[in-house]
Amino acid sequence: MKLLKNSKIKNKIVLLRVDFNLPMENGRVLSDEDYRVKAALPTIKFLLKNGNKIILISHLGRPNGRWDENYSLKPLVSHLEDIIGEKINFIEDDIRGLEKINCDKICLLENIRFYAEEEENNEKFAKKLASFADIFVNDAFSVCHRAHASVEAVTEFLPCFIGLSLAREIDILDKAIKNPAHPVAVIVGGLKAETKVKVIGNFLPKADFIMLGGVVANTILSVRGEEVGRSIISPEVIPAIKKMKVADIKLTVPVDVVVSKDLDGVGGTTTIQISGVVKDDIILDIGGKSADLFCSLIKKSKTIIWNGPMGRADMEIFSNGTKAIAKAIGRSGAYSIIGGGDTIAVINKMGIMDKFSYISTGGGAMLEYLAGNKLPGIEALK
Ligand code: 3PG
Repeated sequence: MKLLKNSKIKNKIVLLRVDFNLPMENGRVLSDEDYRVKAALPTIKFLLKNGNKIILISHLGRPNGRWDENYSLKPLVSHLEDIIGEKINFIEDDIRGLEKINCDKICLLENIRFYAEEEENNEKFAKKLASFADIFVNDAFSVCHRAHASVEAVTEFLPCFIGLSLAREIDILDKAIKNPAHPVAVIVGGLKAETKVKVIGNFLPKADFIMLGGVVANTILSVRGEEVGRSIISPEVIPAIKKMKVADIKLTVPVDVVVSKDLDGVGGTTTIQISGVVKDDIILDIGGKSADLFCSLIKKSKTIIWNGPMGRADMEIFSNGTKAIAKAIGRSGAYSIIGGGDTIAVINKMGIMDKFSYISTGGGAMLEYLAGNKLPGIEALK
């Protein structure tokens, strides 16, 4: 793999894949949650210092291959300009109709997932992207688990390099998984169950404790025959869960939960045993007993990998479980690796970012990599 930092790339047009998939509120990036922009900064500066022009490519959310204003990267431009300290040309045109891209120093393409070809890993589209530049640099670890055109197929058509942030992630995560100190605890919560269930199976032989919250836990509980009411589950992962030994002693699911009759808890909340959940309940956090149970396992662990909050942690009333886990990891003295936008948002708000050994820019990508899966975006650079 060719490292950008060891290269002598000068005066080129560089296609730079970054991941600016950030939480936005009212069309604005929350400035304390722009860690993925900051992670890409060393690569951007390195390229500019050597007289290169940069075409930035990113996705935002999952617009499903359709032009959708709600997922536009436009609101990010002024924020990027402030951080990078350079004017950025925003390219709103459909790039499929362009012969070249006019780029003074840095430009940003509109959300690459507005093109259906991106998620199809379409070769013709990748070739088009490649035609705008001289080299390709991937600095987006967090999307390397996706075999998409701007991550994988594009590497067929240009000389490729690994950006500074991606190289650092690989280095740190490799060291962390080589000989992890046991007991190893893996904590998985949040949404996006399809990526997570896949890795839980891989972690079963490697980890000593696997603690689950969020949609993954709800889905496993329902497979085990528990009532989960109207909680979010992920039906598409049920076959994968059925193949796993769901009764495996290492898999710890919540024993009690915080429920409400509505997603915002307007009508009040109750903490109940799992067996007490009824048909119209929605599970929105783990309960105190579950938090104590998880924290006792965290205390025993020497390596901890965590991705995904235990419930709807963006709301204060449903964040206690997630906060308890965060505090316990921070105090544990274990080597801890944390990833995923929602998880990072919680610890950032709590002001305890410095209590963890390493904060990855990746969520699903981090879990897949640590579980030993080959990531298409990284394989393609080899
Ligand atoms: C992430 O936030 O984990 C990455 O940006 C990948 O997003 P995705 O899960 O929508 O592919």
